[in-house]
Amino acid sequence: MSAVIEARDLHKYFGPIKALQGVTVEVPEGLTLILGPNGGGKSTFMKVALGLYKPTKGTVKLLGKDPWRHSEVRRSIGVAFDPGRFPKLTTGREWLEFIARTRGANPDDVEKAAGLFGIEDALDRRIEGYSSGMLKRLSLAQAFVGEPAVVFLDEPLANVDFESVAEIVQVIGKWKGKGRSFVIISHIWEPFEGLADYGVVISGGKVYLKGEFRDIADDVAGMFRPPEIKNGNPG
Ligand SMILES: Nc1ncnc2c1ncn2[C@@H]1O[C@H](COP(=O)(O)OP(=O)(O)O)[C@@H](O)[C@H]1O
Ligand SMILES: [Mg+2]
Repeated sequence: MSAVIEARDLHKYFGPIKALQGVTVEVPEGLTLILGPNGGGKSTFMKVALGLYKPTKGTVKLLGKDPWRHSEVRRSIGVAFDPGRFPKLTTGREWLEFIARTRGANPDDVEKAAGLFGIEDALDRRIEGYSSGMLKRLSLAQAFVGEPAVVFLDEPLANVDFESVAEIVQVIGKWKGKGRSFVIISHIWEPFEGLADYGVVISGGKVYLKGEFRDIADDVAGMFRPPEIKNGNPG
């Protein structure tokens, strides 16, 4: 496999909003964490890399191909968006079967993917009746249907309770062990520290920091550490 994503001088504007302003980065195989402040451009970067948005300027390759012109490259990729969006009146099973078909996967894989996140018993209920935790699990299951070679997860731990965090990280770790690659956007990065191979910090539409995760881990920890507040004497 070539690099998962190769971006060169990537720009994406939404009218006057400059969401990406010259991102150059090579995301390798393995597990890559994309970090950074809210509104920094992380989700936009993911969508441009997946060929869902056309770059304003610059180039991006997904598994060696231009994803805008070669959308078939997405067949080997699973995605969980944040927030996940679903047709409310369909059942979880119908939705996951739809995803399986778009990816050329066996519909039997649906049960397997649902089982990874413990929602197999809810599959025949309409999505409108799912709790927020179940919606998160459905969006994660969607990314794993058909065992894609690369899994993109946008904020997989957002609004997830403590026990579920451990469970989700464990599934990811197990799949990584089977040779799958991950691109994970997350505010909550500590649980992934032991799994991350590469890291990219995107802020203000630019790459603020990138590198092997072990080389940048200290800088990342520093960025997320709140300023020290002395007892009873802030600032
Ligand atoms: N579809 C869109 N239309 C207009 N503006 C957008 C769109 N998507 C993102 N933006 C804007 O682009 C900037 C980057 O957003 P985003 O990529 O979602 O950041 P992050 O995921 O890092 O929080 C923000 O200012 C956001 O409001
Ligand atoms: Mg985002």
